[in-house]
Amino acid sequence: MPLKTNGIGISVEDTRICVVMVGLPARGKSYIAQKAQRYLKWLSIPAATFNVGNYRRCDAPHPSADFFDTNNVEGERKRRAAAEAAVADMLKWFKKGGVVGILDATNSTKERRQWVMDVVGKHGIDVIFVESKCDEEELIMANIRDVKTTSPDYAGQDPEEAAQDFRNRIRNYEKVYKTINADGDEDQLTYLKIMNVGRQVIINRIQDYLQSRIVYYLMNLHIRPRSVWLSRHGESMLNLEGRIGGDSELSHRGEEYARKLPDLVLESVGSDRPLTVWTSTLQRTIMTARHLPLHYNQLQWKALDELDAGLCDGMTYQEISDLYPEDFKARDEDKYNYRYRGGESYRDVVIRLEPIIMELERSEDILIISHQAVIRCIYAYFMQKSQEDSPWVPVPLHTLLKLTPRAYGTEVQTYKANIKAVSTWRGKGSTAKHEDPAPEGGV
Ligand code: F6P
Repeated sequence: MPLKTNGIGISVEDTRICVVMVGLPARGKSYIAQKAQRYLKWLSIPAATFNVGNYRRCDAPHPSADFFDTNNVEGERKRRAAAEAAVADMLKWFKKGGVVGILDATNSTKERRQWVMDVVGKHGIDVIFVESKCDEEELIMANIRDVKTTSPDYAGQDPEEAAQDFRNRIRNYEKVYKTINADGDEDQLTYLKIMNVGRQVIINRIQDYLQSRIVYYLMNLHIRPRSVWLSRHGESMLNLEGRIGGDSELSHRGEEYARKLPDLVLESVGSDRPLTVWTSTLQRTIMTARHLPLHYNQLQWKALDELDAGLCDGMTYQEISDLYPEDFKARDEDKYNYRYRGGESYRDVVIRLEPIIMELERSEDILIISHQAVIRCIYAYFMQKSQEDSPWVPVPLHTLLKLTPRAYGTEVQTYKANIKAVSTWRGKGSTAKHEDPAPEGGV
């Protein structure tokens, strides 16, 4: 049987990993779990999160801090039952082809970790523990603020009472919490321990390629506030003709956008703090970046070049449809997977963008000036767009997007330069030279 590979060239035929989160409440475990899941799914690796709190809420929707006291027999029983139900569902999901299952819970005692190892290990699934350990008061407080306003446990409650109760809950957990390998007898476990959101990390017994990819990604996460700005190049000469690809110069209006971009960026950043600018190696993005302040560092990435249309490079959609009608139809039917003859598919673009995403996660403020298909793929990563939808997202020319990652998703702000440009968006089946995008959706 041929091996199935995916985005990062991994055989997923027999790889199954259970990522077990560990740590006290308010240490960002759910944030880490959610990001890991999003990253893996973007790379076409089947991943799912099983949040034990959601299972527990079926039986105990608004528990007070006492519920989490280990001397509370009823509380202990219900919490144990919730963990068992979550793991049982995860095992069923693995049977249906899941590759990375994330168990989001505190798993804060040695006994609980051993139990997960025993139950999951029996099915031949590898276990990685990912502990978030944090003693910085400010970070913990930020998390508590977040929980008291967003957690369904405290829905409808006075926020101050909720915060106090949550602190008491944390105290109850602290009574029994053991950081991984505190006593030196968990040395056989595979684990990643992240201290104070990446200030220090400990890696123990990481084994194969997929495990190390996950660990490397998680090591690079940070929670310092930052944004990512995305813009297409200014309108190009080939855009005017409705031709795809190529390496043409900017049109007059494209040049006007390049001149306006510094003001648009300043308006959006809100201060003169410097950005790092990444462009592709194609001249239309480099020309678009050239009026930006000199103290912005600029870097060209080949990985940010537009989707390679192979034999169709430089053609109009009408010409492609005349010359390769079957290809034209096949692309509309499965745009994400369709690979141009001698060129690329959206799936290929995602694969080559993986280092860009990794670098973005490590970095602070970055402005990316790239191309329609590439920006769609980056946008899909941040906004969790499906493979079916992402290749159709309208990304208009002469528009700057600001993406700001937050605890539970990404916030988007759009800045229009108000400089006219052709539309390069194309609806299914259309061969129109310039067509207006569907009104809904888009960025
Ligand atoms: O038309 C501009 C462009 O950037 C082309 O160079 C590229 O082939 C195309 O957009 C990608 O969009 P789509 O996947 O919708 O054809």
